[in-house]
Amino acid sequence: MELTLGEFARRARERLDPPVWDFLEGGAGEERTLAANTAAFDRIRLRPSVLRGAGRPGTGVKILGRTWAAPVAVAPVAFHTLAHPEGELATVRGIGAAAKVPVVVSTFAGRTFEELAAETAVPLWLQVYCLRDRALTRHLVERAERAGFEALVLTVDTPRLGRRLRDLRNDFRLPPGVTPANLEGDGFSSPSAHSRAAFDPDLDWSVVDWLRSVSALPILLKGILTGADARRAAEAGVDGIVVSNHGGRQLDGVPGTLDVLPEVSAAVGGRVPILLDGGVRRGRDVLAALALGADAVLVGRPVLHGLAAGGADGVRNVFTVLLDELTDAMAQAGLRTLADVGPELVGQAPVRRR
Ligand code: FNR
Repeated sequence: MELTLGEFARRARERLDPPVWDFLEGGAGEERTLAANTAAFDRIRLRPSVLRGAGRPGTGVKILGRTWAAPVAVAPVAFHTLAHPEGELATVRGIGAAAKVPVVVSTFAGRTFEELAAETAVPLWLQVYCLRDRALTRHLVERAERAGFEALVLTVDTPRLGRRLRDLRNDFRLPPGVTPANLEGDGFSSPSAHSRAAFDPDLDWSVVDWLRSVSALPILLKGILTGADARRAAEAGVDGIVVSNHGGRQLDGVPGTLDVLPEVSAAVGGRVPILLDGGVRRGRDVLAALALGADAVLVGRPVLHGLAAGGADGVRNVFTVLLDELTDAMAQAGLRTLADVGPELVGQAPVRRR
C-alpha cells in the first residue's frame, strides 16, 4: 500500500512505457526549474504552536464563492489517457470519491467536456490555450460553459511549448488512441509540432478582454511568476491568478514557484485569490504555500501517478493520502482551521514588545 505520493510515482513508473513516463515527468532544458519546485518545499521548516486545543482540524476553504473540502485542486494536464485508458473520466471519479475539489480540465484533455460533466459532481474548470484559431478557442469555451464548467484558467506561459529534451530524444509521439478529444479532426500526434502550428505566440494583455467578451465565467491567469505581472493581472480585472512555471516544462531557469510566492502575494495585496502549482507532494507543502500567501494549490503529476497506478481508485488514494497528511500536519502544528495559517508558520515570528 502506498503511503506517500513518492510511492505512487514509483508505482506509476513501473507501469508506464519509458517515453510516456518521460513525457509526463520531464521538464524543459536541464530541468533546473523542475528541481527548484520541489527543492523550495524541501527547504521549508514549520514552526508549530503547542497547547492550542486545536481539536480535529478543518481543511475547508472558500475560493471564488465556492467551498472546497480542501485547498487542493487538480492542475490541468493534457491527455490523462496516456496514464490510463479511461483518462479524465477516471480522474473525476477518483477525485469525487476523495473530496469535493475542482478539477481543471486541459484544452488537450483525452475525454470530452460533455462526458466529464455527465460523469461527476465535482466542479470542473476549463484550462484555455488561446489558439491562433480564435473561433475554435471560443467554441471550446462555449461548449465548456454550456456543459456547466465553472471557471476558465487561461494559460499565459506558453507562447510555444518549452524545449523538452527527453521528448526530443525519444521523438515522442502520442500512442494510437490518445487524442485531444475536444479538438476533433486535428491530425495531432506530436505535441511539439502541434504547438508550433496551433499556439499563438503573439498574445498580449488584450486577450483577457477578449476572453471576457466571449464568456461570463470567472477568469484566472495561469503562469504568473513576478509581482509586476501579478499586479498587472489584478488591474486587468482577472478573478484569480495561478503562480506556476508549468511544472518546469516551459522556461528552464525560472525560480521554483514557492520562491516567488511572497513577491506575488505582496503585489496582489489580497485583491484576488492566488493559487500555486509545481512540486506540491505532501500535506505540509500545502501548509507552506498557504503560509506564504496562496489560497490553494494545484497538483499535476501526482494525479497521473495515481491514474497509472490504479485508475479512479489510484486517483482517490493519492488525494486521500495528501489530505490525510494535511489534516495530520495541521493537528501537529496546532492549527484548527486554515484561516490560522500565517507567515509565522514558516518564518521568523514577528518581534512583539510588551
Ligand atoms: C502539464 N501542464 C499543463 N498546463 C496547462 O496549462 N495546460 C496543459 O495542457 C498542461 N499539460 C501538462 C501535461 C503534463 C504531462 C504535465 C506534467 C503538466 C502543467 C500543469 O498544469 C501544472 O502547472 C504542473 O504540472 C504543476 O506541477 P506538478 O504538480 O506536476 O509538479
